[in-house]
Amino acid sequence: MIVWLDGQLVDAAEARVSAFDHGLTVGDGVFETMRVAPAPDGARAAFALTRHLRRLRRSLGGLGLALPTDDDELRAAVAGVLEANGPDAGRIRITVTGGSGPLGSDRLAVPPTVVVAAGPATAWPPTATVVTVPWRRNEHGALAGLKTTSYAENVVALDHAHRAGAGEAIFANTAGLLCEGTGTNVFVVRDGVLRTPPLTSGCLAGITRELVLELVPATEVDLPLDALADADEAFLTSSTRDVHPIEAVDGRSLPAAPGPVTRAAMDAFAGLVARTVDP
Ligand SMILES: Cc1ncc(COP(=O)(O)O)c(C=O)c1O
Repeated sequence: MIVWLDGQLVDAAEARVSAFDHGLTVGDGVFETMRVAPAPDGARAAFALTRHLRRLRRSLGGLGLALPTDDDELRAAVAGVLEANGPDAGRIRITVTGGSGPLGSDRLAVPPTVVVAAGPATAWPPTATVVTVPWRRNEHGALAGLKTTSYAENVVALDHAHRAGAGEAIFANTAGLLCEGTGTNVFVVRDGVLRTPPLTSGCLAGITRELVLELVPATEVDLPLDALADADEAFLTSSTRDVHPIEAVDGRSLPAAPGPVTRAAMDAFAGLVARTVDP
Protein backbone atom coordinates (compact mmCIF):
# COMPACT_ATOMS: atom_id res chain seq x y z
CA MET A 1 0.00 0.00 0.00
CA ILE A 2 1.04 3.55 -0.71
CA VAL A 3 0.18 6.17 1.91
CA TRP A 4 0.45 9.96 2.01
CA LEU A 5 2.41 11.21 5.01
CA ASP A 6 3.01 14.91 5.64
CA GLY A 7 3.05 15.90 2.00
CA GLN A 8 4.63 12.81 0.38
CA LEU A 9 3.31 9.62 -1.17
CA VAL A 10 5.40 6.83 0.33
CA ASP A 11 5.34 3.06 0.55
CA ALA A 12 3.51 2.13 3.77
CA ALA A 13 6.50 0.01 4.81
CA GLU A 14 8.70 3.12 4.68
CA ALA A 15 6.29 5.59 6.30
CA ARG A 16 7.65 6.74 9.67
CA VAL A 17 5.86 8.62 12.45
CA SER A 18 7.66 9.77 15.61
CA ALA A 19 7.54 7.51 18.68
CA PHE A 20 6.57 10.73 20.49
CA ASP A 21 3.61 11.47 18.24
CA HIS A 22 0.77 12.73 20.45
CA GLY A 23 -1.70 10.62 18.49
CA LEU A 24 0.29 7.53 19.50
CA THR A 25 1.05 8.48 23.11
CA VAL A 26 -2.27 10.01 24.22
CA GLY A 27 -4.77 9.59 21.37
CA ASP A 28 -4.61 13.31 20.55
CA GLY A 29 -5.92 13.33 17.00
CA VAL A 30 -8.91 13.14 14.70
CA PHE A 31 -9.80 11.07 11.67
CA GLU A 32 -12.25 10.44 8.86
CA THR A 33 -13.07 7.18 7.11
CA MET A 34 -14.68 7.24 3.67
CA ARG A 35 -15.91 4.56 1.32
CA VAL A 36 -14.48 4.52 -2.20
CA ALA A 37 -17.09 4.92 -4.94
CA PRO A 38 -17.01 5.31 -8.72
CA ALA A 39 -16.85 8.94 -9.87
CA PRO A 40 -18.67 10.16 -13.04
CA ASP A 41 -15.39 10.25 -15.00
CA GLY A 42 -14.93 6.53 -14.33
CA ALA A 43 -12.19 7.14 -11.76
CA ARG A 44 -12.62 6.14 -8.12
CA ALA A 45 -13.18 8.76 -5.50
CA ALA A 46 -13.85 9.15 -1.79
CA PHE A 47 -17.62 9.28 -1.31
CA ALA A 48 -18.98 12.49 0.28
CA LEU A 49 -15.47 13.92 0.61
CA THR A 50 -16.72 17.50 1.07
CA ARG A 51 -18.86 16.54 4.06
CA HIS A 52 -16.03 14.45 5.54
CA LEU A 53 -13.55 17.33 5.20
CA ARG A 54 -16.05 19.66 6.88
CA ARG A 55 -16.43 17.23 9.80
CA LEU A 56 -12.65 16.79 10.00
CA ARG A 57 -12.33 20.58 10.45
CA ARG A 58 -15.03 20.50 13.14
CA SER A 59 -13.26 17.69 15.00
CA LEU A 60 -9.92 19.54 14.73
CA GLY A 61 -11.57 22.70 16.07
CA GLY A 62 -13.08 20.73 18.96
CA LEU A 63 -9.61 19.50 19.93
CA GLY A 64 -8.03 22.92 19.40
CA LEU A 65 -5.77 21.56 16.67
CA ALA A 66 -4.94 23.52 13.53
CA LEU A 67 -4.21 22.11 10.11
CA PRO A 68 -1.89 24.37 8.08
CA THR A 69 -2.77 22.70 4.78
CA ASP A 70 -5.99 23.62 3.00
CA ASP A 71 -8.67 21.25 1.74
CA ASP A 72 -7.16 21.27 -1.77
CA GLU A 73 -4.02 19.59 -0.45
CA LEU A 74 -6.09 16.98 1.39
CA ARG A 75 -8.20 16.39 -1.73
CA ALA A 76 -5.03 15.94 -3.78
CA ALA A 77 -3.63 13.57 -1.13
CA VAL A 78 -6.81 11.47 -1.19
CA ALA A 79 -6.78 11.37 -5.02
CA GLY A 80 -3.06 10.45 -5.01
CA VAL A 81 -3.57 7.57 -2.56
CA LEU A 82 -6.56 6.27 -4.54
CA GLU A 83 -4.63 6.38 -7.77
CA ALA A 84 -1.52 4.79 -6.29
CA ASN A 85 -3.41 1.87 -4.75
CA GLY A 86 -5.91 1.19 -7.53
CA PRO A 87 -8.70 -1.31 -6.82
CA ASP A 88 -7.02 -2.39 -3.53
CA ALA A 89 -8.41 0.82 -2.00
CA GLY A 90 -11.97 0.19 -0.84
CA ARG A 91 -11.87 2.59 2.08
CA ILE A 92 -9.75 5.63 2.72
CA ARG A 93 -8.81 7.29 5.96
CA ILE A 94 -7.43 10.71 6.84
CA THR A 95 -5.77 10.92 10.25
CA VAL A 96 -4.48 14.17 11.78
CA THR A 97 -2.70 14.13 15.14
CA GLY A 98 -1.21 16.78 17.40
CA GLY A 99 2.26 15.88 16.07
CA SER A 100 5.31 15.18 18.16
CA GLY A 101 4.64 15.94 21.82
CA PRO A 102 5.91 15.38 25.34
CA LEU A 103 4.99 12.09 27.02
CA GLY A 104 2.10 13.64 28.94
CA SER A 105 -1.03 15.52 27.92
CA ASP A 106 0.65 18.91 27.20
CA ARG A 107 1.16 19.80 23.59
CA LEU A 108 4.19 21.27 21.86
CA ALA A 109 3.80 24.02 19.25
CA VAL A 110 4.64 21.69 16.36
CA PRO A 111 2.98 20.90 13.04
CA PRO A 112 0.39 18.13 13.08
CA THR A 113 1.02 14.70 11.62
CA VAL A 114 -1.22 14.08 8.61
CA VAL A 115 -1.68 10.61 7.14
CA VAL A 116 -3.93 9.49 4.30
CA ALA A 117 -4.12 5.70 4.02
CA ALA A 118 -6.27 3.22 2.15
CA GLY A 119 -7.42 -0.28 2.97
CA PRO A 120 -9.65 -2.93 1.51
CA ALA A 121 -13.42 -2.51 1.75
CA THR A 122 -14.99 -4.48 4.60
CA ALA A 123 -17.23 -7.31 3.39
CA TRP A 124 -20.18 -7.03 5.80
CA PRO A 125 -22.71 -9.84 6.13
CA PRO A 126 -26.16 -8.91 4.73
CA THR A 127 -27.50 -8.20 8.23
CA ALA A 128 -25.92 -7.13 11.52
CA THR A 129 -26.28 -8.51 15.01
CA VAL A 130 -25.77 -6.10 17.90
CA VAL A 131 -25.51 -6.18 21.66
CA THR A 132 -26.04 -3.35 24.10
CA VAL A 133 -23.04 -2.74 26.36
CA PRO A 134 -22.86 -1.71 30.02
CA TRP A 135 -20.59 1.29 29.36
CA ARG A 136 -22.05 4.72 28.62
CA ARG A 137 -21.25 7.37 26.04
CA ASN A 138 -20.59 10.67 27.83
CA GLU A 139 -22.69 13.20 25.96
CA HIS A 140 -21.24 15.93 28.23
CA GLY A 141 -17.56 15.08 27.62
CA ALA A 142 -15.07 17.31 25.85
CA LEU A 143 -14.90 14.81 22.97
CA ALA A 144 -18.66 14.26 22.53
CA GLY A 145 -19.56 14.35 18.86
CA LEU A 146 -15.92 14.55 17.71
CA LYS A 147 -14.31 11.87 15.61
CA THR A 148 -11.09 11.49 17.56
CA THR A 149 -8.37 8.86 17.61
CA SER A 150 -9.22 8.26 21.30
CA TYR A 151 -11.23 5.18 20.32
CA ALA A 152 -10.10 2.64 22.92
CA GLU A 153 -13.61 2.67 24.50
CA ASN A 154 -14.94 1.58 21.12
CA VAL A 155 -12.27 -1.11 20.87
CA VAL A 156 -13.26 -2.51 24.28
CA ALA A 157 -16.99 -2.40 23.46
CA LEU A 158 -16.55 -3.99 20.04
CA ASP A 159 -14.43 -6.76 21.53
CA HIS A 160 -17.21 -7.32 24.10
CA ALA A 161 -19.72 -7.59 21.22
CA HIS A 162 -17.53 -10.05 19.32
CA ARG A 163 -17.12 -12.22 22.44
CA ALA A 164 -20.92 -12.25 22.72
CA GLY A 165 -21.12 -13.41 19.09
CA ALA A 166 -22.38 -10.05 17.76
CA GLY A 167 -21.02 -7.69 15.14
CA GLU A 168 -21.54 -4.29 16.79
CA ALA A 169 -21.92 -2.84 20.28
CA ILE A 170 -24.54 -0.21 21.07
CA PHE A 171 -24.08 2.42 23.78
CA ALA A 172 -26.61 4.30 25.85
CA ASN A 173 -25.53 7.76 27.02
CA THR A 174 -25.21 8.85 30.68
CA ALA A 175 -28.98 9.52 30.76
CA GLY A 176 -29.63 5.91 29.72
CA LEU A 177 -30.86 6.96 26.27
CA LEU A 178 -30.03 5.20 23.02
CA CYS A 179 -26.88 6.77 21.54
CA GLU A 180 -24.83 4.95 18.86
CA GLY A 181 -22.58 2.03 18.05
CA THR A 182 -18.78 1.85 18.18
CA GLY A 183 -18.55 2.94 14.55
CA THR A 184 -22.18 3.40 13.59
CA ASN A 185 -25.31 5.45 14.09
CA VAL A 186 -28.56 3.66 14.82
CA PHE A 187 -32.11 4.05 13.48
CA VAL A 188 -35.24 2.28 14.78
CA VAL A 189 -38.68 1.76 13.26
CA ARG A 190 -41.86 1.38 15.28
CA ASP A 191 -45.33 1.39 13.70
CA GLY A 192 -43.83 2.52 10.40
CA VAL A 193 -42.10 5.60 11.91
CA LEU A 194 -38.31 5.91 11.49
CA ARG A 195 -36.46 7.52 14.41
CA THR A 196 -32.84 8.15 15.36
CA PRO A 197 -31.22 9.71 18.44
CA PRO A 198 -30.47 13.46 18.13
CA LEU A 199 -26.89 14.78 18.15
CA THR A 200 -27.49 15.97 21.76
CA SER A 201 -27.48 12.26 22.73
CA GLY A 202 -23.69 12.43 22.22
CA CYS A 203 -23.62 10.40 19.03
CA LEU A 204 -21.30 11.30 16.19
CA ALA A 205 -22.84 13.40 13.43
CA GLY A 206 -22.48 10.50 11.01
CA ILE A 207 -22.31 11.45 7.35
CA THR A 208 -24.42 8.41 6.39
CA ARG A 209 -26.93 9.31 9.14
CA GLU A 210 -27.09 12.87 7.79
CA LEU A 211 -27.67 11.65 4.22
CA VAL A 212 -30.36 9.16 5.30
CA LEU A 213 -32.14 11.98 7.16
CA GLU A 214 -32.10 13.98 3.91
CA LEU A 215 -33.34 11.04 1.81
CA VAL A 216 -36.21 9.50 3.76
CA PRO A 217 -38.74 10.77 6.32
CA ALA A 218 -37.32 10.29 9.81
CA THR A 219 -37.41 12.01 13.19
CA GLU A 220 -34.49 12.86 15.46
CA VAL A 221 -35.72 12.22 18.96
CA ASP A 222 -34.46 10.97 22.33
CA LEU A 223 -35.22 7.27 22.67
CA PRO A 224 -34.84 4.90 25.60
CA LEU A 225 -32.19 2.21 25.09
CA ASP A 226 -35.00 -0.38 25.01
CA ALA A 227 -36.39 1.22 21.84
CA LEU A 228 -33.81 -0.82 19.95
CA ALA A 229 -34.82 -4.26 21.25
CA ASP A 230 -38.52 -3.26 20.99
CA ALA A 231 -38.22 -2.07 17.38
CA ASP A 232 -40.17 -3.59 14.48
CA GLU A 233 -37.03 -3.03 12.41
CA ALA A 234 -33.75 -1.20 12.92
CA PHE A 235 -30.58 -0.41 11.04
CA LEU A 236 -27.03 0.84 11.46
CA THR A 237 -25.42 3.47 9.27
CA SER A 238 -21.77 4.15 8.59
CA SER A 239 -19.45 5.05 5.76
CA THR A 240 -18.36 1.45 5.31
CA ARG A 241 -21.74 -0.25 5.98
CA ASP A 242 -24.06 2.26 4.26
CA VAL A 243 -27.54 1.26 5.56
CA HIS A 244 -27.13 -2.08 7.33
CA PRO A 245 -30.23 -3.91 8.64
CA ILE A 246 -30.08 -5.15 12.24
CA GLU A 247 -31.19 -8.74 12.53
CA ALA A 248 -30.91 -9.29 16.28
CA VAL A 249 -30.44 -7.27 19.46
CA ASP A 250 -28.96 -8.93 22.56
CA GLY A 251 -29.58 -12.36 21.07
CA ARG A 252 -33.25 -11.73 20.17
CA SER A 253 -34.33 -11.47 16.54
CA LEU A 254 -36.18 -8.37 15.38
CA PRO A 255 -39.41 -9.07 13.43
CA ALA A 256 -37.86 -8.11 10.06
CA ALA A 257 -34.36 -7.51 8.66
CA PRO A 258 -34.67 -5.65 6.43
CA GLY A 259 -38.23 -4.50 6.99
CA PRO A 260 -39.97 -2.22 4.50
CA VAL A 261 -38.75 1.08 6.00
CA THR A 262 -35.16 -0.18 6.16
CA ARG A 263 -35.44 -1.45 2.59
CA ALA A 264 -36.62 1.99 1.46
CA ALA A 265 -33.64 3.64 3.20
CA MET A 266 -31.23 1.11 1.67
CA ASP A 267 -32.63 1.70 -1.82
CA ALA A 268 -32.60 5.49 -1.41
CA PHE A 269 -28.98 5.40 -0.24
CA ALA A 270 -27.87 3.05 -3.03
CA GLY A 271 -29.59 5.38 -5.52
CA LEU A 272 -27.68 8.34 -4.11
CA VAL A 273 -24.31 6.55 -4.39
CA ALA A 274 -25.15 5.65 -8.00
CA ARG A 275 -26.06 9.28 -8.82
CA THR A 276 -23.26 11.24 -7.21
CA VAL A 277 -19.93 10.76 -5.50
CA ASP A 278 -19.97 13.97 -3.46
CA PRO A 279 -23.54 14.62 -2.25
C1 LIG B 1 -18.64 6.53 16.86
C2 LIG B 1 -19.17 6.59 15.48
N1 LIG B 1 -20.47 6.83 15.28
C3 LIG B 1 -21.00 6.87 14.04
C4 LIG B 1 -20.22 6.64 12.92
C5 LIG B 1 -20.82 6.69 11.53
O1 LIG B 1 -20.42 7.86 10.87
P1 LIG B 1 -20.25 7.94 9.27
O2 LIG B 1 -21.61 7.65 8.69
O3 LIG B 1 -19.81 9.33 9.03
O4 LIG B 1 -19.25 6.93 8.88
C6 LIG B 1 -18.85 6.42 13.09
C7 LIG B 1 -18.00 6.20 11.89
O5 LIG B 1 -16.99 5.60 11.92
C8 LIG B 1 -18.32 6.39 14.39
O6 LIG B 1 -17.00 6.17 14.58
